[in-house]
Amino acid sequence: MTTETHSAINQYFKPGFCQPDCVQQDCPTNFTCPPPGVIPLSRGNFIADSLENNLFWLRIMMEHALFMRLAFACVNMDLINEAQQYEQAYAQQLNQAKAVANAPTEQSVRALNQASIELTQAFACFKTMVLDRIITCGPTKIGGYNYPLLIDHIRREAVAFISRLNALQTGRVEPLALTIVRDQTFWHRIMADHAKFIAHLLDPSEREFVEQANSFSVLFDSKRLQALDLKSMLEPNFAVYPILRRFTRDSLKAATQIRDFKAAATELIAECELLSIIPVLLADHVRREAEMFVETMEKRLNELSQVK
Ligand SMILES: [Fe+2]
Ligand SMILES: [Fe+2]
Repeated sequence: MTTETHSAINQYFKPGFCQPDCVQQDCPTNFTCPPPGVIPLSRGNFIADSLENNLFWLRIMMEHALFMRLAFACVNMDLINEAQQYEQAYAQQLNQAKAVANAPTEQSVRALNQASIELTQAFACFKTMVLDRIITCGPTKIGGYNYPLLIDHIRREAVAFISRLNALQTGRVEPLALTIVRDQTFWHRIMADHAKFIAHLLDPSEREFVEQANSFSVLFDSKRLQALDLKSMLEPNFAVYPILRRFTRDSLKAATQIRDFKAAATELIAECELLSIIPVLLADHVRREAEMFVETMEKRLNELSQVK
């Protein structure tokens, strides 16, 4: 094991049985297993990865604000206005990201990341407040058409964006196996949620589409459970085992299938040939997220192919 690998592991990821989602107090930190030789680390490029994340997620966040605004009850003008302010703030931040991307420097990218983190932390808190008011009872309860799972879902996407930017800002290096299983647990859950939203927003008369959406929901729930099992198996030492390659290939195949399903649905919705209450922008939004999942899995397979 190289010195660099040793220090990265020791600094951020102590091998053991509690990485990364145990409650700290419950971690058996007084014993570890010896790591199995060299642990491949995930490599990135600060400027390219920062710009890619900002250009993708800022547009996604702007659209979340729009979807929330459209689904609030018309009596909640305060929430409608606040959502609109986030929409405008993200439109400005997206323009800023495009400007920085024209001639990026480490300093301008770092400032962009920081501003995106702060804006998205505030937006995640707004989503939290809205979710709390949807699922409560009593005078603060709000109505409207935002499913609780949708708000939880878009909050998870905000948190994932923040944590990716934080990793870039602090130069955090992590084992490749951990990056891959975490990507998979995140994206499989996101895809399973999308399938459920689509099934519930299609017109009930569109029986075949509803059935297809339901079968994607079952597929991705099952993939997520398998990813969690793998995560648990790999966590103690973060080695790259052959199963990770097969599972990543399978994830790419499933991601491609749902991406194509969403692309076909988006086209039909745009042509008014599919009965639903899905706005075309929402259909395209979930298609772009599936595309990002496909691209991420392709990137990870490429990284895995470089591991001996
Ligand atoms: Fe989204
Ligand atoms: Fe999503």
